[in-house]
Amino acid sequence: MRTIAIINQKGGSGKTTTVVNVGSAIAEAGHKTLLIDLDPQAHTTIHLGFEPFSLEKSVYDVLVNETLFDDVLIQTRIKNLFLMPAKIELASAEIEMVNTIGREIVLREALKKSKNSFDYILIDCPPSLGLLTLNALTTVSEVIIPIQAEFFALEGLTKLIQTIQIVTERINPSTHISGVLITMFDKRKNICKEVAQKVKNHFDKKVFKTKIRENVKLAEAPSFGLTIFEFARNSHGAEDYRKLAREILNGGKYEKERIGKRPSKLDNINSTRKTKEKKK
Ligand SMILES: Nc1ncnc2c1ncn2[C@@H]1O[C@H](COP(=O)(O)OP(=O)(O)OP(=O)(O)O)[C@@H](O)[C@H]1O
Ligand SMILES: [Mg+2]
Repeated sequence: MRTIAIINQKGGSGKTTTVVNVGSAIAEAGHKTLLIDLDPQAHTTIHLGFEPFSLEKSVYDVLVNETLFDDVLIQTRIKNLFLMPAKIELASAEIEMVNTIGREIVLREALKKSKNSFDYILIDCPPSLGLLTLNALTTVSEVIIPIQAEFFALEGLTKLIQTIQIVTERINPSTHISGVLITMFDKRKNICKEVAQKVKNHFDKKVFKTKIRENVKLAEAPSFGLTIFEFARNSHGAEDYRKLAREILNGGKYEKERIGKRPSKLDNINSTRKTKEKKK
C-alpha cells in the first residue's frame, strides 16, 4: 500500500484537483484507491458529486467520535475508487481534539484497525499546517507538494519543508517528499517558466516531469461533481493527470532516482522580483 498526502498550506495550489483526478486515473488503471478528504471545505467530497450535508458520517467522526474507519468509507461511482468524505463540522475538530492523547496520530491508528486494504491512499489536506495536516503527515509515507506556477508560489515552502522534517524526526521516520508538482502552468507566461525553473533548481529530481497545464475544463469539472475523465476525457487536463498518474504508478521504481539532494534554502518572492528587475 502506498500512502500519499497532497500538501501545501497555500490555498488554491491545486491539491484537491490533483487528489480527485490523479486518484481517479490510478483507480481507472485498476488499483484499489481511497481518497481521504481531510479539508473542512469538503471540496474533494463535492468534486466527486456528493452533497456533504446529506452524508451521515464523515472523517470528523473517525477523528473525534472514535467511529471505525471502515464505517465511514463510501464507494464512488468510479470502479476501484473509494472516499472518506468530509463535512464542514471538521472545522471544529482541531479544537475538539485538543485534549485527545496522541492527537497527531488519530487517523493513523484508525487506519491501522481497518479491515480494508487499498493499493493507494491519497489524502487531500486543508490549506494550513494545523492538526489535520499533521494527522495526514503521520499517516503517510509520501508527500506530494503541488505548486501553482505564479508569483507568490514559493512563499511558505520553507515552513512546509521544516514541518515535514520535524514530523520525520519525531513521529514518522518514513515520511518524505516524494514529488513536487507544477500546476496551472502556462508556457506563454514568463512568470510560470521562472517559477518552474526555481522549483527545479531547489527540488531537482523530485519535480515531476509532468506539469499540469492551466485548463478551463479542470476548473469547470468540480461544479458538475465530475472528475476530468468524466467531464472532458480528451482535454489537456485529462491528458496531464493521466500522465502524472503514470509517473506516480512508476514512482516506487523511480523514486530513488528522482529524489536528489535535499534543498538547502528556498528562494522567495523577493528573489523572483530581483530577477525581474535585473532583466529590466
Ligand atoms: N490546471 C488548472 N487549470 C485551471 N484551473 C485549475 C487548475 N487546477 C486547479 N484549478 C482551479 O483552481 C482552483 C484551486 O484549485 P484547487 O481547489 O485544486 O486548489 P486547493 O489547493 O485544493 O485549494 P484549497 O487550498 O482551497 O483547498 C479551483 O477553482 C480549481 O478548479
Ligand atoms: Mg482543496
